[in-house]
Amino acid sequence: MTSFYLSKPYEPPRAPSKLPLGEPWALFGGISPDQFMARYWHKKPLLIRRAIPAFALSANKGGSLDSPIPTKELLKFALQDEVEARLVKANPWSFDSGPFSKRAIPSINKPDWTLLLQGMEAHHPAAANILSWFRFIPDTRLDDLMISIAGIGGGVGPHFDSYDVFLIQMSGRRQWKISEQKDLSLNPNLPLKILRNFKPEREWTLEPGDMLYLPPHVAHDGIALDAGCQTWSVGFRSPSFKELLQEGLWRLAESLENIPALESKFADPKQGATHSAEQLPEELIKQLDSKLKELKLDKIDGFLPGITAYLSEPKQQALFDAPDTPLKPNAFLRKLGASRLLPHPQTRILSLGKQVYCNGESMTQGQAPAILSAWQTLSAHKELRVGRLKQPDQSSLYEAYLAGWLVFEH
Ligand code: SIN
Ligand code: CO
Repeated sequence: MTSFYLSKPYEPPRAPSKLPLGEPWALFGGISPDQFMARYWHKKPLLIRRAIPAFALSANKGGSLDSPIPTKELLKFALQDEVEARLVKANPWSFDSGPFSKRAIPSINKPDWTLLLQGMEAHHPAAANILSWFRFIPDTRLDDLMISIAGIGGGVGPHFDSYDVFLIQMSGRRQWKISEQKDLSLNPNLPLKILRNFKPEREWTLEPGDMLYLPPHVAHDGIALDAGCQTWSVGFRSPSFKELLQEGLWRLAESLENIPALESKFADPKQGATHSAEQLPEELIKQLDSKLKELKLDKIDGFLPGITAYLSEPKQQALFDAPDTPLKPNAFLRKLGASRLLPHPQTRILSLGKQVYCNGESMTQGQAPAILSAWQTLSAHKELRVGRLKQPDQSSLYEAYLAGWLVFEH
């Protein structure tokens, strides 16, 4: 007897805000996030069968679960200006960036192509919910959730990333081949970063609900085995020390603007007559050294605010719109008592101790205690619900609402 079931989209739940870090998780094949971090994170690959058990459970009951975003709906994102999209074709390799016209996207039944959609957590709540499962990894490290959709044979070719990545199979099957080879040289004649000598060491076919974790620099190649194959990649970036120090240092330099005492000029009443007039004076070096110490510019603490501000910058293509009819400060406060205030999906919020940084700016410096605490809640829980909030008219919370960085839940 054959039965006919329509496939249903999987609806990923939002993770609880306090994650059980010491408990076994199906997502990691029965080990806890504590164990995953100690044994695998940034160290070695891990394949997890049935990481999302709902897919296998539904199949066992004769049902069929599909990706949270069906093919037709997903392809529409590639037409939008605000979605970063790339189209990769194999045989021969070619590469194009979006936004695309409808005609530019091959039919799902054609082979050897894949479409990559970046930053999908900002565009679909299911993608944002999936990210919430990974909040046992510092927000600073998170890059985004990318979704790939492919025709049979589609993929981006053998390559390596500088990212930690969780590759979640959401629709159709994908064959993954990986290698921890040392030779990561690229083929110079291709429009894509493809390895010159890929020598697969392990391979698996991933079914919907399976997940593969790869640390940086593990060579990999994922080939779609079914039309409409969807892989959701949760990617974690890692800044270089050069980037961190350069960004921290120039912000530190900017912050010196706010210290009027630094306008005072170097004075050298103790300078003696010298035969080495060409040399930088000892007196200048001495006074500069004591200024650096006095301002604590020789200590790490001075760099961290600038570095945190930098790391809280949103993606380049993030767009924030001011609310159509912005509430006046009092109405804003009343609404805050009745609805949840959420970061816009492209807003980044990070904390340094009690200080909070949002989209590249400090939000807590010089703010009233109630505003400070509201930002700390937003940073920790990525939502704010308050009974009563007293605030001065121009708080940074209200400003962030006016800028479209914070939005009320509908
Ligand atoms: C993909 O989903 O096809 C590509 C993901 C990756 O290999 O980084
Ligand atoms: Co990759």
